[in-house]
Amino acid sequence: MEKMIIQGGYRLVGEVSLSGAKNAALPLFAASLLVEDWITLRNVPALADIRTISRLLRMMGVKTEGESGTVRLSASGLHSFEAPYSMVKTMRASVLVLGPLVAKWKQARVSLPGGCAIGARPINLHLKGLEAMGAKVELKHGYVEASADRLKGAEIYFDISTVTGTENLMMAAALADGRTVLKNAAREPEVVELGQALKKMGAKIEGVGTDVVVIDGVEDLRPIEHTIIPDRIEAGTFMVAAGITQGNVKLLNCNLGHMEAVAAKLKEAGMEIYPEGDGVKVIGPVNIKPVDVKTLPYPGFPTDMQAQIMALMCLAGGLSVITETVFENRFMHVSEMRRMGADIRIEGKNAIVQGLAHLTGAPVMATDLRASASLVLAGLAAEGTTEVSRIYHLDRGYEKLDQKLTKLGAKIRRAQE
Ligand code: EPZ
Repeated sequence: MEKMIIQGGYRLVGEVSLSGAKNAALPLFAASLLVEDWITLRNVPALADIRTISRLLRMMGVKTEGESGTVRLSASGLHSFEAPYSMVKTMRASVLVLGPLVAKWKQARVSLPGGCAIGARPINLHLKGLEAMGAKVELKHGYVEASADRLKGAEIYFDISTVTGTENLMMAAALADGRTVLKNAAREPEVVELGQALKKMGAKIEGVGTDVVVIDGVEDLRPIEHTIIPDRIEAGTFMVAAGITQGNVKLLNCNLGHMEAVAAKLKEAGMEIYPEGDGVKVIGPVNIKPVDVKTLPYPGFPTDMQAQIMALMCLAGGLSVITETVFENRFMHVSEMRRMGADIRIEGKNAIVQGLAHLTGAPVMATDLRASASLVLAGLAAEGTTEVSRIYHLDRGYEKLDQKLTKLGAKIRRAQE
């Protein structure tokens, strides 16, 4: 296994180019199952999770060309409708094949994802929606077995706003017979992106990006070419990297419109963030101000940025309260930050962060994707050397993070554990 070794104390200065969004690419890969000819996706990030879903689709018989950048996929030779436990347990987003398989291929056998480091993360709302659309859904030996000759449009209310739940059922409804209304639908930019791509494929979808999405099913969809949007969570992570090192960084191909809550909070903390030419300039303050943060479904502050802003608040001039409302166990980075001297107290859903003058480098362990990013951020500012182990978590969602940070002046390198 590999680790990251970081010498703290170096200001980040320069330009960095953002990669395509992992959470936009994954549902678009699954959408390749909705047609039987080649689709072309551009700006696909080179990530472990992308390689995982490519491997899953190939196991099912999908032909693929390329692993990142421009990727082509064709489901014409599909011969298996199964997403095995071995794949789903490594990446729960594999459940995104469920909706397209039932809608287009009339059947699916997908492993239940099981638990995850950050929470139970069930898929009950995905299954409730498919049943409402007339699918026969059974749970057997840890697998979901779903089938339908043809799904029927239905009115579905999500008890909780669910990103992949909305995506799965939007894809299922695109080929159903009749009208489907998704209420309390997720509004994330990645959901909007999937909606746009489905409309390009010929789907009849209205209201995507609002909490009521209306889909009128069609008989067939056609293959498309689509460019993946930039990754707003990678963008937020680099903004915090500039903020925590008093840096001066220009983000290239950053869509500030996808990250108003993040930019607002970081400006409240004293950062300057503004469009400049073909990019977005982010400047870290001399004194970081404490801010309270509450994670919420989009357009609220994203849970995927909670660990990162916590790293920044560890060095703020006062007390911050960070409330995690989306997942029930997403504070695992706290005990690792404490090893670096952070003063954080957890009370239920709240992390109370007392900002300090400095953190000290230490050996720490990554536990999940965004926690590992937050430990790298803390290491950039800490006095001395920080070693982040188990960085396979990081490689799931960040493309060449160490190389991009090195180019900005960070002292960071990979090494064998
Ligand atoms: C997506 O996960 C993202 N993953 C996550 O990003 C992100 O943290 C999450 O949305 C929230 O924004 C992808 O898009 C591939 P949810 P998803 O369904 O869809 C509960 C990252 O770091 N829920 O929106 O799995 C669930 O337990 C990853 O890139 C149910 O109870 O999340 C959670 O508490 C981590 N039943 C809440 O809803 C269901 O059927 C939100 O989950 C579905 C969800």
